[in-house]
Amino acid sequence: MAELGWVQRLFVERADLYIEIMNGTWSEGEQIAKSIAKIFRENGLDSGKVLDAFCGNGRVAIPLAMEGYEVVGVDFSLPFIEDAKLKAEKYGVKDRTRFLVSDAREIDRVLEGEKFDAVIIVSTSLGYFDGSTDEEILRKLRSLSKDGAILVIANTLHRETPGWRYCNKVFQRYGSLVLMEERKFDPIWSKLLSKWVIMRDDGEGNLIKELEVLTEIRVYTSTELAEILKRTGWGVDSIYGDIRRMEKFLPPCVHLSLVAKAIQT
Ligand SMILES: C[S@@+](CC[C@H](N)C(=O)[O-])C[C@H]1O[C@@H](n2cnc3c(N)ncnc32)[C@H](O)[C@@H]1O
Repeated sequence: MAELGWVQRLFVERADLYIEIMNGTWSEGEQIAKSIAKIFRENGLDSGKVLDAFCGNGRVAIPLAMEGYEVVGVDFSLPFIEDAKLKAEKYGVKDRTRFLVSDAREIDRVLEGEKFDAVIIVSTSLGYFDGSTDEEILRKLRSLSKDGAILVIANTLHRETPGWRYCNKVFQRYGSLVLMEERKFDPIWSKLLSKWVIMRDDGEGNLIKELEVLTEIRVYTSTELAEILKRTGWGVDSIYGDIRRMEKFLPPCVHLSLVAKAIQT
């Protein structure tokens, strides 16, 4: 199995920092869950079994369970899964959620024999490997889904995301954490290459560096992603920009969201 490199460093070794970032954007997760539940209901799914394939600490899985769905969250980061379990208890959805540690590339083995009514992939969670690995993951997710199941890919970066073209330095604050991201785009391999520097504001005017990591993510156009989905058994029905507002996908918008259905291949 390929080395996880920066992914391991950011999401496992310094999971404490990324949990702070996810906690700082918890309300965004709630809004995403509301839109996803609306899409499910519009497609006749009022209840049922949902797989959150890269669930982090349950930022979306838990609010979705609060909407009445039975949610299974999978992530390769043990600290995220432990945090998700604690939060499920805190939010009163322990009986409607299950959180498991697994690499997405082995998800079919961990969930062998299960069939889902819907699958969600939220924030940019594909593109950490190469195109063929993403395809393999999507094929495995299809094999775990009922015919006609709904797939929502929500708020992922895409090739037309304007950020790294017009403004390659981004500063964001999450509580006492400050994230400085410096982005470059490699047009040959369609990769977003970023330097992440995470600093802690000590409250006395000092920023103390906690982590510096170089990230590398393959980004797709909407058409490339729709083609991969088609090859792996998912037919795209609709497209949005930011799913929280169900906005039209009109590049240059920051996010891409796709809704697809499980089809026969
Ligand atoms: C950008 S975060 C999104 C988390 C969550 N979906 C959210 O919106 O809060 C990407 C997630 O993918 C997980 N991840 C990365 N590579 C993975 C892999 N190979 N298998 C399973 N999870 C992985 C990380 O641990 C992280 O939680």
